[in-house]
Amino acid sequence: MKKTLLVTGAAGFIGSHLAEHLLRRGDRVVGLDNLNTAYDPARKRANLAEVQSAAQNRGQWEFVQGDIRDPALLDRLFDENGFDAVAHLAAMTGVGVSIEDPQLFFEVNLLGTLHLLNAAKQHLVGNFVLASTSSVYGNGSAIPFSETAACDRPLAPYPASKRAAEMLGFSYHHLYGLHCTVARFFSVYGPRNRPDSLACQVADGISRQQKVRLYRKGQMHRDWIYIDDLVRGIAAAVDRPLGYEIINLGRGEPVLVADFVALLEKHSGAKARLIQALLPDMDIPCAFADIQKARCLLDFQPAVSVAEGVERFWHWYKNQ
Ligand SMILES: NC(=O)c1ccc[n+]([C@@H]2O[C@H](COP(=O)([O-])OP(=O)(O)OC[C@H]3O[C@@H](n4cnc5c(N)ncnc54)[C@H](O)[C@@H]3O)[C@@H](O)[C@H]2O)c1
Repeated sequence: MKKTLLVTGAAGFIGSHLAEHLLRRGDRVVGLDNLNTAYDPARKRANLAEVQSAAQNRGQWEFVQGDIRDPALLDRLFDENGFDAVAHLAAMTGVGVSIEDPQLFFEVNLLGTLHLLNAAKQHLVGNFVLASTSSVYGNGSAIPFSETAACDRPLAPYPASKRAAEMLGFSYHHLYGLHCTVARFFSVYGPRNRPDSLACQVADGISRQQKVRLYRKGQMHRDWIYIDDLVRGIAAAVDRPLGYEIINLGRGEPVLVADFVALLEKHSGAKARLIQALLPDMDIPCAFADIQKARCLLDFQPAVSVAEGVERFWHWYKNQ
């Protein structure tokens, strides 16, 4: 059945793909984003233009430029639209940058989430999906990362703010019966990747002949998940009110960063100029998702191999 959905962070990398996916299946989607300058807002406007063109002859699309820290705006939006579900992706992102401005990260990622949870509770929204991150697992969690891990040792304000938001989601479920699924995304890549993503940094380095910093000679595992697979997982979470659940969305097959870089070199036909660096304190040598829960609860089946995904990413990148 056609739904009315709110996607926050809709102008961003993942939010724009999610909005497109929901529109293609015929839903009515309201996108909310403040188009901040964490990276060039022109890229976000370009993402929105692609969502707009996907909306032609499909579901209904409306974009609202606004801030999740504005409760009056949220109240009006929820009142006017009667959302069936919320996919909350708006956030300040990046482990390293969160150290420079922890207050902003908590204002947006925790207080902004609080305002959205309040609006969802007030307007009896049927389901709330909260985007979280594999970085909440920190350095001490058993591998593969399971949703049952304590995650009480975040290595920087970004994962700390996301973990706090996850816990607030539980409080709203417990107190008000709000269905809340926390989706922990692993390393997402694909067209429209953020400029600070490893995929874009290496691709930029290759195409502009610039040096690229690589930690630990790339001997670190990341659980890369291609954007189309991730979006199918988020959409399944949006469709299924589950009470309160935390669910990993990765591929469950970690790949060395060095191998990911080698795939980009293969498709570009050029070598990246890599500068070696030590792993910073807030980073981890291995991220590996246990995705059994996602398979069981969301019928999650990642289909795009890293080899294929990197090829698709490069195809998009070179056409920019
Ligand atoms: N990209 C990844 O690999 C990855 C991994 C783990 C988790 N995540 C999570 O996924 C979500 C989306 O990430 P992304 O990579 O698409 O990042 P992104 O920066 O491209 O998208 C986030 C969007 O949120 C918007 N936003 C930020 N603050 C806002 C505010 N106060 N009000 C309204 N809009 C605001 C930004 O303008 C941006 O368009 C985030 O919650 C992020 O923490 C991403």
